Amino acid sequence: MSASRACALSDLTQDEAHRVEIDGVAIAVVLDGNGEVHAIGDLCTHGDISLSDGFVEGETLECWAHGSAFSLKTGRPLNLPAYEPVPVYEVVIDGDDVLIDPSVTKATA
Ligand code: FES
Repeated sequence: MSASRACALSDLTQDEAHRVEIDGVAIAVVLDGNGEVHAIGDLCTHGDISLSDGFVEGETLECWAHGSAFSLKTGRPLNLPAYEPVPVYEVVIDGDDVLIDPSVTKATA
């Protein structure tokens, strides 16, 4: 599989999560306050909640349901109740296109 167009860069609002779906994979795309674009799995690992409905705080995306904040860089939750990470995807910016390959996750060790 190769990278697909997820959205336009100009569609993204800084510090807001944007939900996209590529090949059946739900992904939360975030333009952070430094202008960097992140892509992490959209489904909270604690419950069946879309993280893109949550809140961007610095380099985290917080689940609105119970407050676990997931690192946009590593996918790891920084606080309970979630304890399993979400996947983190490579993002390629090509002009105004945000490209993501949902079959390739970043190594975040
Ligand atoms: S469903 Fe996300 S923290 Fe509980």
